[in-house]
Amino acid sequence: MNFHIEPDYDALSRRGADLIEGVMKATDTYTLGLATGSTPIGLYKCLVDDAQRKIIDFAGATTFNLDEYRGIGGTHPQSYRYFMDEHLFGNIDIDKSATHVPDGADPDAAHACDCYERAIQEAGGIDIQLLGLGHNGHIGFNEPADEFPKHTHCVDLTQSTIEANSRLFDHIDQVPRQAYTMGIGTIMAARRIVIVANGSDKAEIVKRAFFGPVTPAVPASILQFHPCVDVILDLESAALSKNLI
Ligand code: GLP
Repeated sequence: MNFHIEPDYDALSRRGADLIEGVMKATDTYTLGLATGSTPIGLYKCLVDDAQRKIIDFAGATTFNLDEYRGIGGTHPQSYRYFMDEHLFGNIDIDKSATHVPDGADPDAAHACDCYERAIQEAGGIDIQLLGLGHNGHIGFNEPADEFPKHTHCVDLTQSTIEANSRLFDHIDQVPRQAYTMGIGTIMAARRIVIVANGSDKAEIVKRAFFGPVTPAVPASILQFHPCVDVILDLESAALSKNLI
């Protein structure tokens, strides 16, 4: 794993954008795996700024997001499709039909997940996958479990995730209880992975995920087995990992 310890959130965002732009500039067509959550917002702003300054363009891009709430459609303001439109897709020149988010409005979970997994395969897999890190070690919506789920699947969100994500809803009762998410196998099949985490509230899980045992109880710990991972942290999230600072 390559660790990048940045002085602050802006530098972390810039570093993540540079790694993704490196892949974008290396080939004419490429597939990006994208994430939601508050951590990547600064990184998306860098990508948007660079696209507007014509440093990069998204003409060759196909994108797949990690996850989506089950039971809400893409026009719902709290859906991850809506988030992506607001923070990235709506601000760049990209073919919308090349942007993919699991279909949270499809009530048939097996159908929605199988279609998504197949679409990733048919696109030739993911060149670079961006990840955030949940407080309980989740990546995408792969929650702590007894085993690592392989493929895109429907998951019951844990109470801690429902509580963490309720800040974005008017009331905790509105937070969907389930989501469709890429599996750990789907994520690990990406040729390259970039994971971003910032703030002191992530320091404990950073230590457990990257310096503790590999276990499905901490889903992000599996990344220790991936051959090409960049972990981008700020000083606060790296603070409890003694070997980093
Ligand atoms: C959500 C998303 C994850 C994200 C996590 C952390 O649960 N499903 O993909 O990594 O939140 O979010 P944040 O970056 O806001 O801490």
